[in-house]
Amino acid sequence: MPKSLISISDFTKEEMLHILDVAAEFEKNKSQTFLQGKVVACLFFEPSTRTRLSFETAANRLGARVIGFSDVANTSVSKGETLKDTIKMVSNYVDLIVMRHPLEGAARYASEVASVPVINAGDGANQHPTQTMLDLYTIKQTQGKLENMEVNMVGDLKYGRTVHSLIQALSYFSPKFVFTAPKELMMPQEYKNFLAERKIPFTETADLMEHINTADILYMTRVQQERFTDPIEYENVKNCYKLSADMLTGCKKNMRILHPLPRVGEIAQDVDETPFAYYFRQAGNGMYVRMAIISYLLGYR
Ligand code: CP
Repeated sequence: MPKSLISISDFTKEEMLHILDVAAEFEKNKSQTFLQGKVVACLFFEPSTRTRLSFETAANRLGARVIGFSDVANTSVSKGETLKDTIKMVSNYVDLIVMRHPLEGAARYASEVASVPVINAGDGANQHPTQTMLDLYTIKQTQGKLENMEVNMVGDLKYGRTVHSLIQALSYFSPKFVFTAPKELMMPQEYKNFLAERKIPFTETADLMEHINTADILYMTRVQQERFTDPIEYENVKNCYKLSADMLTGCKKNMRILHPLPRVGEIAQDVDETPFAYYFRQAGNGMYVRMAIISYLLGYR
């Protein structure tokens, strides 16, 4: 079976550090077209702006061609074709598949039936490993290192696949976590067990201001309406946090605010003008990191 990236735990610490180094090379030199003649499929069964466009741009900058879809209504999935048949079929056409799907486990399943590498671009509330790699890249870029960071994760920690992947990746680098969430959206127990087993300290709070001044990274997240089965539950928590510029006066000078985006209301526009805001640059880093991941899985770096 070809090597795929489905969960961040599919990469060793050494592989993660290698990808970060290769991404830094691509940041210096954006166009290296050694994948000419290759074809990448981007199969998005769920909406996306950044992940899809940065993957497509990454593949194009490497010289590969891109096929795919971003709306399953225009595919034979709408006629009842199974995920297995879709993936087996697309495997015949391309050299690598990038897939986002609403069901947890769908990407792992796809990698088991595909004859080419599969990259998980997000599977339900489970994992988003390429987001994690770009988050690591951004943390290193802003802090000069990955070790000993205090990372305060804020918002939807229950359904947020980006925070789930990120705590696993950072576990190699002696972090300290603060989980800031209302009780309905707290970090799931399995991730707290993961940290406890590794003796990695974490604190939980519902008060955004309680630990804001000691954070190195404030990792904001959106409350994801699409993950709720009960609309009343969503209404109760949708506006749980709104970070504004006046809340940042006591923060560490080098603290940076990250957000996987899209944001809906959890970061006020006035934060964009502060030196702490880094989320747009973070999204930009996605292209270099995805260039590095595609190259690595195809055996070119
Ligand atoms: N961060 C992220 O996954 O954004 P998109 O949903 O726009 O791809």
